[in-house]
Amino acid sequence: MNAAPAEVWTHPVATDPVMGSIGFLNEVMGRYPDAISFAPGAPAPRFIDAFDHERHIRRYLDHLTHERGMSDVAARRSLYEYGPSRGLISDLIASALARDHRIEVPPRAVVVTVGAQEAIFLALRALADTGDHIAVAHPCFPGVLGAARMLGLTVVPIDVTGSGPDLRLLDDACGRAESAGVRLRVCYAAPDYANPSGIRMPLSARRDLLGLAHERGFVVLEDNAYGFTVDDADEFPPLKALDERTSVVHVGTFAKIGVPGLRVGFAVADQPVRGGELLGDHLAALKSMVTVNTSPLAQAVVGGLLLQHGVSLRALGREKGAFYRRNLRLLLAELDARMPRAPGTSWEHPAGGFFVRVKLPVAADAALLERSAGDFGVLWTPMSGFHLDAEGDRVMRLSCSYLDDEQIRSGVARLAALVREVA
Ligand SMILES: Cc1ncc(COP(=O)(O)O)c(C=O)c1O
Repeated sequence: MNAAPAEVWTHPVATDPVMGSIGFLNEVMGRYPDAISFAPGAPAPRFIDAFDHERHIRRYLDHLTHERGMSDVAARRSLYEYGPSRGLISDLIASALARDHRIEVPPRAVVVTVGAQEAIFLALRALADTGDHIAVAHPCFPGVLGAARMLGLTVVPIDVTGSGPDLRLLDDACGRAESAGVRLRVCYAAPDYANPSGIRMPLSARRDLLGLAHERGFVVLEDNAYGFTVDDADEFPPLKALDERTSVVHVGTFAKIGVPGLRVGFAVADQPVRGGELLGDHLAALKSMVTVNTSPLAQAVVGGLLLQHGVSLRALGREKGAFYRRNLRLLLAELDARMPRAPGTSWEHPAGGFFVRVKLPVAADAALLERSAGDFGVLWTPMSGFHLDAEGDRVMRLSCSYLDDEQIRSGVARLAALVREVA
């Protein structure tokens, strides 16, 4: 009766280091609950605490009954039943994208997903076959690297310059794929304050990327998770708004602009595909075999949130964007004022997004993170999981989003003490 449980075989991808990167950080944070954490790219607790999902659901139900003419019973039922794989609020998201960004697509092209992560996964599955190449602006959000690995795609890192992915390298990568008898199908990029590089692509670089996509026949997977932190006044159009030849699949999320626990994101996929359908139809078909549909209750919350803000993502993100820009300025000012300028130590000055990368003269690895948490009470994200080479080994990422002013000040003082000791 005491026989040892038999080990089962698992796919090697399950133990790929990139799969462990999020779990590892959560585990460390769990062990040091009192440490000041620059690790999570998550909304500030003040926005989470103020979030009133019941109010948003009521607003959405009012919309269904008053503007869509549904009965009270049918409206309530639609929140508790399965619902279409494409989602319930595609029309609201399509209206918001048209109003805010001049992204004009039919609601059918918008698929509501379980976070941006599912949208990325579905888009990669639909657009690339096992063995195909996908390019990523490098360093890259690990969610993309992990999804590509799960799908058996070959990831080609394209180093970023100050204006986004280096197009010469990207062009070479397309040529190399062709010579190897495969296709480079997709290029992943986040033009508005990428995670982790904080780079924002200028307008000309956006147009050049779209030109190359057309020439070489790949799809640009545009991730707009942090676009709302751009100041309205100096916004550039998203790639999807400049996309005259349906070269772009645009991915968004309500995790940062709303709350992450809702797990609601979306893909905008208006590309024609076989049989007179749109890519959005194919993404919805794939989704029906992964998560079936995105929780209708969570979609109702997001629907109400959008309606409360005049069906505008920009209005929804305005106050939050300003808050995070202010946090980022404070974090940068504190780094500039307090961090020792030891040889090999440097940090960047992004104008938006959540993140600042700090380069150290020593390895920014799990051992240093343990020491940082245990001896100095401060946490951060090691960058090796974002890199496909050794370039990230001495880099830590600091997020400005989760902390208040006092925590940012003391957190940087603690980091400075750590760097003084190790540098
Ligand atoms: C660049 C980027 N894209 C996508 C995501 C995933 O978003 P979601 O929580 O909606 O799956 C994140 C989350 O941190 C991110 O940083």
